[in-house]
Amino acid sequence: MEYNKLLARSFSHYEQNMIGCWAFGVFLIITVLTYYFALISNPSSLASIPILDTDPQLRMLVFRDTSSTVHQLYTDDDPVTKTEVKEIIKEVIKVEDDINDGQTKQELVKLPPVCNVSDQKFDICDIDGDIRIDGKSSTILYTSSSKNGFFAGNDSWRIQPYPRKTDKGAMKNVNEILVKPFFTNDSNAPNCSRYHSVPAIIFSVGGFASNHFHAYNDVLVPLFLTSRQFNQEVQFLITDSKLAWISKYKVILNALSKYPIVDLDKENDVLCYKKVILGLNFHKFLSIDPLKSPKNYSMENFTQFLRNAYSLKRSSAISMTVKESGHRKKHPRLLIVSRQRTRKFSNVDSIAKMAKSLGYQVIIEEPSYAKDASTFTEMVNSCDVMMGVHGAGLTNIVFLPPTAVFIQVIPFGVEWVSTKYFAEPAPDMKLQYLEYKIAANESSLIQQYPIDHAVFKDPHSIGKQGWNVFKSVYLDKQDVNLDVERFRPTLLKALGLLRK
Ligand SMILES: *[C@@H]1O[C@H](CO)[C@@H](O)[C@H](O)[C@H]1NC(C)=O
Ligand SMILES: *[C@@H]1O[C@H](CO)[C@@H](O)[C@H](O)[C@H]1NC(C)=O
Ligand SMILES: *[C@@H]1O[C@H](CO)[C@@H](O)[C@H](O)[C@H]1NC(C)=O
Ligand SMILES: *[C@@H]1O[C@H](CO)[C@@H](O)[C@H](O)[C@H]1NC(C)=O
Ligand SMILES: *[C@@H]1O[C@H](CO)[C@@H](O)[C@H](O)[C@H]1NC(C)=O
Ligand SMILES: *[C@@H]1O[C@H](CO)[C@@H](O)[C@H](O)[C@H]1NC(C)=O
Ligand SMILES: *[C@@H]1O[C@H](CO)[C@@H](O)[C@H](O)[C@H]1NC(C)=O
Repeated sequence: MEYNKLLARSFSHYEQNMIGCWAFGVFLIITVLTYYFALISNPSSLASIPILDTDPQLRMLVFRDTSSTVHQLYTDDDPVTKTEVKEIIKEVIKVEDDINDGQTKQELVKLPPVCNVSDQKFDICDIDGDIRIDGKSSTILYTSSSKNGFFAGNDSWRIQPYPRKTDKGAMKNVNEILVKPFFTNDSNAPNCSRYHSVPAIIFSVGGFASNHFHAYNDVLVPLFLTSRQFNQEVQFLITDSKLAWISKYKVILNALSKYPIVDLDKENDVLCYKKVILGLNFHKFLSIDPLKSPKNYSMENFTQFLRNAYSLKRSSAISMTVKESGHRKKHPRLLIVSRQRTRKFSNVDSIAKMAKSLGYQVIIEEPSYAKDASTFTEMVNSCDVMMGVHGAGLTNIVFLPPTAVFIQVIPFGVEWVSTKYFAEPAPDMKLQYLEYKIAANESSLIQQYPIDHAVFKDPHSIGKQGWNVFKSVYLDKQDVNLDVERFRPTLLKALGLLRK
């Protein structure tokens, strides 16, 4: 009876500490018991007791005791409650099993799930352990237990690694990857063909990523957010991959990872890693929330990173004194982004002429991504002011030097996307933002609809008819004939901002 109480008490004392350190707990108990029995049987033998030795007789004693009923251990005047005793017995059995096997048992701690699907924009899995990736079947197998515990329940997911999860239009072009646990003793588990010591990040470049804005918004900024912390010691496994996409953005991809990119869908080997992140983090449109990101990365850090990757020289725009701008000694460079197919400026030459009269050096350029991206990024970086009609080409503001001025010309009806995609992110890039909303008489829509039509009076009602109708009316069939005199004060204001 004395011994039973001692056992119970010694466990209850250490109970709190024992979560996660069973071995230490057992070590203490065995030590106490060893001393106790040694003292009873032969007080003089104390000095020679091998404390760490898992004496078979002693373990049998512990085991026999835990197999005895709760009532034998429990007495009414004992402060240890019945439930506590039950718990202690369970724990002793588990610890016994561990010692017997010399390895971790499954009945340890239930580990948190490896995938987090609670964000509205993205699903992400962060997996550690023995991870086997079978590209052909788009399957990631991870070990069902680790030294810290085990995964219970149905810890399987189907994840689309593209951070736009509620957008059906995008997600229908995104591969689905099965994530599921496996037992290492399962002979059906695929054997590794290649082992990698660096972590892997798996993401899709399907969805809308062929569009320049979405490439940055949906993939490159989220990828920076997810991978920059590894300081290039990370490998990218890309699904829905296209060679043209990879080659267009290879400078950025190579600056984030120094290992070859794996085309996951074409991979015939089983690739094994110790750490895998499936999916990309996303905070907000074309930007980063430093409070949520590893190492407090900001959008400023992203554009800084881009300038390094592309070896862009300028990290601030021209700075003029009042005198200099008055005498036009310094000519700030104005880039007019000129779209060619939709949302065109129909009078780009008169805009350029007016800008020159204000002292600007004017560059008119259609963003052509097929061209060597490096030449284009350098040209953007050389400018102090960039203006253009809302569209994917404006994504190139990421290459402007901080303190440069960015003027967004907002066509009729597209305020919301203009605000979300460019107006809000611009200050995070340390750009000075101006916008110019065109009037009905500057829109080509005036030739297609009477001025009292819902297209002018109630753009919201057009939006309600669905994205395709909205897109067709305002984005695909609208050109801009800028009222140069009405626009002039905006360009003057930009000059003023460069003077600060
Ligand atoms: C899961 O994601 C949500 C939303 O991003 C986040 O708030 C939460 O902390 C995450 N949970 C875990 C366990 O990481
Ligand atoms: C467990 O997850 C797998 C994969 O997502 C799914 O196919 C299966 O139906 C799930 N099983 C249960 C019982 O929910
Ligand atoms: C594999 O191990 C788990 C626990 O580790 C066990 O439940 C299962 O029976 C084992 N399967 C085989 C085939 O040995
Ligand atoms: C993996 O290798 C083990 C041992 O060599 C073998 O028993 C098992 O069948 C192999 N598994 C597969 C799926 O080939
Ligand atoms: C990140 O920012 C928060 C809030 O400003 C600050 O408490 C924290 O120390 C910062 N972390 C790092 C790594 O700079
Ligand atoms: C991020 O940008 C801030 C502000 O420029 C800078 O202080 C910080 O060092 C940058 N962080 C990294 C990791 O480059
Ligand atoms: C266009 O409309 C604006 C007001 O919306 C007006 O100030 C301007 O004079 C008009 N321009 C032309 C060329 O009619």
